Amino acid sequence: MSRLKENFFYSRVFLSEFIILGLILFLFAILLSDSLLENLLLLSLIIIGLIYFVDSVGAKRKEQIRIIQKAFDDIKNNVLASPDEISLGKQLFELEADIKSMFLKTQTDIANLKKLEQVRTEFLGNVSHELRTPIFAIQGFLETLLGGAVDDPKVNRNFVAKAYSHTNNLNNLLHDLIDISMIESGQMRMSFRYFNVQEFLIPIVNDFKPAAAEKNIELILYNIKSKLELFGDKTRIKQVVTNLISNAIKYTERGKVEILVLEEGKFGRILVRDTGLGIADKDISRIFERFYRVDKDRSRAVGGTGLGLAIVKHILEAHNTKMEVKSEPGKGSEFSFLLKK
Ligand SMILES: Nc1ncnc2c1ncn2[C@@H]1O[C@H](COP(=O)(O)OP(=O)(O)O)[C@@H](O)[C@H]1O
Ligand SMILES: [Mg+2]
Repeated sequence: MSRLKENFFYSRVFLSEFIILGLILFLFAILLSDSLLENLLLLSLIIIGLIYFVDSVGAKRKEQIRIIQKAFDDIKNNVLASPDEISLGKQLFELEADIKSMFLKTQTDIANLKKLEQVRTEFLGNVSHELRTPIFAIQGFLETLLGGAVDDPKVNRNFVAKAYSHTNNLNNLLHDLIDISMIESGQMRMSFRYFNVQEFLIPIVNDFKPAAAEKNIELILYNIKSKLELFGDKTRIKQVVTNLISNAIKYTERGKVEILVLEEGKFGRILVRDTGLGIADKDISRIFERFYRVDKDRSRAVGGTGLGLAIVKHILEAHNTKMEVKSEPGKGSEFSFLLKK
């Protein structure tokens, strides 16, 4: 009984239409018939039939709404393992497909958020670790100096120099962190222009002459067509090339570092080649990850942060291009990328 009452209230949606229909039928009956009573009876039957019809439509709709409500509750309460557990029956198959795809989307969104959260935590962990190393070293040297070494002419200058070199590492780390955070927050604006490659590369390579000479490494910039122009953000590409040359010198013990510009159709390739340590295949795919270094101690000892190539990768992506690496352990490495002519 109470179900009928509830359904009746659902049926009210159709009530006004039904009353109008009844009135029209009633008028027809009066028009067509001599016996008013007979027609009135007929009409009443029709009306009862209609009420029953509308009531059952209402009941069905109500059941469907309940099933939909349950599907949403299940999603909300996180009790579903897979979208296949959502079933709204034959009549609502389109809505079912929509709810399933919505469910899948929220699931992947949640998974992505969790991954992002994990990456963030890992990054923070790495940063703290990277900060700790130079700070502990500086602290150690200062403590030793204060403990008396400051008056020992055999070690004092050396300790101060070592502490100073660690402050340089801290400074490098700070700069790279600022770059990374600018890239991630989308604040690194690029301004693309044509620039003359020869004029661009000569001063950069010259800046590295002392560092190369100190390690007895030959630094060679091969001839570039004087009119050749490439398209990109000069400041950011300078950062890329600087990183490549600095790595090449850092990770090369003997031999040479060469810088070449090759023309390939509509593109120009900037290439930095060294005769250094080389990188094993398994590491090549990882050196662009933040803080990944093949040899952590060596990298730190030469002032590396492990962020250089991660920054380089972002910059090249913004230029719609990517770094290509060829390397053989013990023989050397070759880093290169294309830019539009
Ligand atoms: N030219 C190279 N030769 C050998 N190894 C290299 C070279 N360039 C990069 N690597 C390796 O890739 C790692 C990541 O490079 P990078 O992101 O620039 O960080 P880092 O600050 O350590 O130089 C380096 O630690 C090094 O192990
Ligand atoms: Mg580097």
